[in-house]
Amino acid sequence: MGFARARVTPFVCAVVVALVGFRPDVALAQASQQEIARGRYVFGATGGCGCHTAKGQPANAGGRRYDGPFGTVYSSNITPDRETGIGSWTDEQIVTATRLGRRSNGERLLPVHPYPVFNGMAAEDLKALVAFLRSVPPVKRANQPKRIAVPLFESVFLPAWLAAFAPRETPPPSAPTAGVPRGEYLVRAVAHCGECHTPRTLTMATDNSRFLAGNPKGPEDQAMPNITPDPDTGIGKWTVEQIADYLGTGNKPDGDVAGGLMGEVIDGTLAGYKDLTQGDRVAIAQYLKTLPPIRNKIAKEK
Ligand code: HEC
Repeated sequence: MGFARARVTPFVCAVVVALVGFRPDVALAQASQQEIARGRYVFGATGGCGCHTAKGQPANAGGRRYDGPFGTVYSSNITPDRETGIGSWTDEQIVTATRLGRRSNGERLLPVHPYPVFNGMAAEDLKALVAFLRSVPPVKRANQPKRIAVPLFESVFLPAWLAAFAPRETPPPSAPTAGVPRGEYLVRAVAHCGECHTPRTLTMATDNSRFLAGNPKGPEDQAMPNITPDPDTGIGKWTVEQIADYLGTGNKPDGDVAGGLMGEVIDGTLAGYKDLTQGDRVAIAQYLKTLPPIRNKIAKEK
């Protein structure tokens, strides 16, 4: 019997060792769940990448139509489908397309995809974002080719756009975590508020000398309010709390509710601005308060 026990003990030990040996894997799996949760947060902070979700279609499957001065482009499938989405891309390729607008075959993406904005996104946030994108259900939906209608597009518009943007080849390693620098980071590098709220020059590049000063005819022909601190034509009369609350709920101080594209980015798709922490919404509001007030009356269409 003693002999038999002696033989069992090493076996038990082996099992115990095996279990202990699995612990690091369990820890790894947890870390990646954390990474995905972090990526979902970043995804929400962009407004839910809603341009990649067409009305009534599965999230991230693309196909939303954008008409520009150049012609028509359809957003891409960014689900992990291996054939029609980004499932077969490496992390590096996804990051490069997101922040530099270069596809793996060297093709340039149109800046309808806001890479001049995402160019400033921190490496750790990009990495988490990729982990999240890979975690959602793959959808098989082939991308539609763009239709360029303007002959001068590639010789005039695209270079002007690219000149308005000096890409950083390497992303900043980490993002500011609190206060005005955090707010600036979210507004400029993640939430892309300027893509809608900043007026554009004749070439359609954002006019960064009038950052966030509004646009009577912005994306999808919607009126984009002036959100600089000008008291009469901007949001100078809103308190930090009112701005932060609006980003979380869509409720305006005057009782109105966010509509149109603003309603979309607040609600998001799989996540949106509404999922930002109170701390981050306050940081955004505090940053907006530091901007130069610009007088620019935007008529509200109704
Ligand atoms: C996809 C386009 C888009 C993006 C991105 C966007 N907005 Fe807006 N925003 C709008 C539109 C459209 C309205 C007008 C909504 C309405 O009339 O109900 C609006 C309204 C607002 C208002 C209300 C202004 C007023 O006078 O009523 C504030 C404040 C605001 N946005 C702040 C922001 C901030 C801060 C960000 C970035 C964190 C942001 N927006 C990103 C499109 C956008």
